[in-house]
Amino acid sequence: MRNSKTSQTTLTATKHVSFPDRLPAYIARVEQVLDRWLPPAGQKPASLHKAMRYAVLDGGKRLRPTLLYATGETLGLAPDQLDAAAAAIEMIHGYSLVHDDLPAMDDDELRRGRPTCHKAFGEATAILAGDALQALAFRVLAWDSALKTPDSRRVSMLRLLADACGSLGMAGGQAIDLDAIGQKLSVDEVEEMHRLKTGALIHASVMLAALAAPETTDSQLQALDAYGQAVGLAFQIQDDILDEEGATDTLGKTQGKDRLHDKPNYPTIAGLPEAKARSRELADSAIHSLAPFGDAADPLRWLANYVVQRNS
Ligand code: IPE
Ligand code: IPE
Ligand code: MG
Ligand code: MG
Ligand code: MG
Repeated sequence: MRNSKTSQTTLTATKHVSFPDRLPAYIARVEQVLDRWLPPAGQKPASLHKAMRYAVLDGGKRLRPTLLYATGETLGLAPDQLDAAAAAIEMIHGYSLVHDDLPAMDDDELRRGRPTCHKAFGEATAILAGDALQALAFRVLAWDSALKTPDSRRVSMLRLLADACGSLGMAGGQAIDLDAIGQKLSVDEVEEMHRLKTGALIHASVMLAALAAPETTDSQLQALDAYGQAVGLAFQIQDDILDEEGATDTLGKTQGKDRLHDKPNYPTIAGLPEAKARSRELADSAIHSLAPFGDAADPLRWLANYVVQRNS
């Protein structure tokens, strides 16, 4: 996504610019918001703040914030109403990657084309950077003054984010992932693991935007819920496919680690052709669920296709 053709057009004059051409502006936008909320690198304890900034800035596709802004476009919500949630979800995502890469978890040395956080700052600082990013994410969502939604809605957003990253969401999925090492899971079990470890945060990106919008109907919420679930699972299946047949240089992380560590993933359990067919089926199902929104959901349709066609 980051490599999409750069547009000179700002987000305030976007009507005639296609969504892929608007992506660089959304990415720049969330990066500015992240930069603003993260403590300065020189502030004490400086090693911790440097590690937090390292984990979140300068890299990543920013898919989750982009999903938030695209859902906002679909519902007619201005981007300033989504900045806090976009930054919060990206902080949680950044923390999840720092901890995922630790020696006690996936033991990875390369992330976003650079040394992983613990390689650059040491394990203890990386663990604390993850902890502090998680706390900061909730602070941002609780405190951002641009968000005009009533406090009761804001509390619902906070609860949604908490559920998505807790023991019944991302952290729970990561626990299942670790327990699965060396095991032969069924396809259903792999899907459940993927829905939790990765799908939950992607689903939450869509639903946070839906909650921030003042007049979202129940049927719109249901449609976005189905979209978020399908795209979230498709995203991790594509991640597994790329672990099998992607390239380290393009991925910015070491290819082939799942197989090396005997971690069951979708293609190792079901086969590559089945994995590709399933991710395509999920993208089509996500797109199908957007029917009630008409053309307004084109950005979300584009993102569903991107998720299963990407090579990084
Ligand atoms: C990688 O996520 C970890 C998974 C949940 C599969 P991304 O592929 O979105 O990582 P970045 O943010 O672009 O680096
Ligand atoms: C990561 O899944 C899911 C997270 C919650 C971070 P992976 O372990 O497959 O992600 P990568 O391949 O290291 O990015
Ligand atoms: Mg992992
Ligand atoms: Mg990993
Ligand atoms: Mg992976």
